Amino acid sequence: MRILIVGGGGREHALAWAIAASPLTSKLYAAPGNAGIAAEAECMPIAADDSARLVAFAVERKIDFVVVGPEGPLANGLVDKLEGAGIKAFGPSAAAARIEASKSFAKDLCVKHGIPTARYRVFDSGQAAADYVSRENTPMVVKVDGLAAGKGVVVGSTTEETLEATYFFSTGMASRRLVIEERLEGPEVSAFALCDGKTALPFGFAQDHKRAFDGDQGPNTGGMGAYTPVPLVDAALEKRIHETILQRAVDAMAAEGHPFKGLLFAGLMLTRDGPKVLEFNARFGDPETQVLLPRLMSDILPALLAARDEVLKNFHLRWLKEAALTVVLAAKGYPGEYKKGSEIRGAEKLAGLDGVTLFHAGTKRDGTRLLSDGGRVLNVTALGATHAEARAKAYAAIDLIDWPEGFCRRDIGRTP
Ligand code: AMP
Ligand code: GLY
Repeated sequence: MRILIVGGGGREHALAWAIAASPLTSKLYAAPGNAGIAAEAECMPIAADDSARLVAFAVERKIDFVVVGPEGPLANGLVDKLEGAGIKAFGPSAAAARIEASKSFAKDLCVKHGIPTARYRVFDSGQAAADYVSRENTPMVVKVDGLAAGKGVVVGSTTEETLEATYFFSTGMASRRLVIEERLEGPEVSAFALCDGKTALPFGFAQDHKRAFDGDQGPNTGGMGAYTPVPLVDAALEKRIHETILQRAVDAMAAEGHPFKGLLFAGLMLTRDGPKVLEFNARFGDPETQVLLPRLMSDILPALLAARDEVLKNFHLRWLKEAALTVVLAAKGYPGEYKKGSEIRGAEKLAGLDGVTLFHAGTKRDGTRLLSDGGRVLNVTALGATHAEARAKAYAAIDLIDWPEGFCRRDIGRTP
């Protein structure tokens, strides 16, 4: 089959790596890809959000199946446009991607269908939101309604901070709808399911590390590392999350007339009252995919096709017993301002390491030199018999990389 992967981050490198290994793949393209993806696929200089050119490319090159990585193109209807042009595509329709793109849509869906989530109110006026926060007089969480690349959430530690965030979002982001919700307490985990509109096939759990610095300090990022499986999630909790959250969300979307096909990613908090949804994402996680896929023993391509073709029922996936852990190397300054174009040396030394995979996130080549080309730049994933072993292997591999302009957290897998 001729496959096109849309996107150019670490998640897409992990997808390209897994799809390239499928005996069903005869030709693999990526748009735009990156320097690491270029080892697996032919990279085309087409932006992930340029849907007109992507559709034209897919038609012209007779692509059999397109796998869409990032949320933006999904929310903008890339899958609808590809399918409309007769090209099979993996990912939700724009209507179904609203489960991520609109927090108020997702919250309303949860309440209507009994999916556990924090109590909340939706406001179209900043003043009404501020009045509510003042009246409640307790620390709450303020969320901007649309896609905000992780920058649209403030967890207030006091009422004043909650109010400040309410004013900041309602004045800074003109006419934005706000969701104000109850502040939950507990460890966070991410749950994944491959969905075909009817069936939610469990796709594992991961623990993400969102803050930039060790000890969960510093600003929120897209994710600085992850590991899987998650020891906090035992078989009983897994079943409960599957039944009350993942499958229930898929049933809910179908009942609302927007069947969800693609990868459903639930951000959860394990509260004293059980698991509750913080958010849904309509796509693979980044860097969670970089730990999920190295544990997948089954060929990923038939699974993605079965999701698209609505035949996931009775589909089985096999997973390695080992733990997987990934550490993100980012450019100094990320998630704030950072420089692109600094040289990274030594990455080739990881090639022969047993159980270690280097996924590129933001890289490009200049001749034979490897240069940084983004905020999150490399992901080093290691498999190990235990989490500790995977962590030791990942950090030993990272220490072979010489990149003075980069940094990583040193405590991935140590903090909850
Ligand atoms: P979200 O984008 O909705 O997942 O929120 C980003 C982060 O904010 C989450 O990973 C949590 O750490 C935190 N958060 C979101 N909602 C809540 C909540 N209701 N209570 C406590 N923390 C939250
Ligand atoms: N790592 C979190 C995400 O992909 O949204």
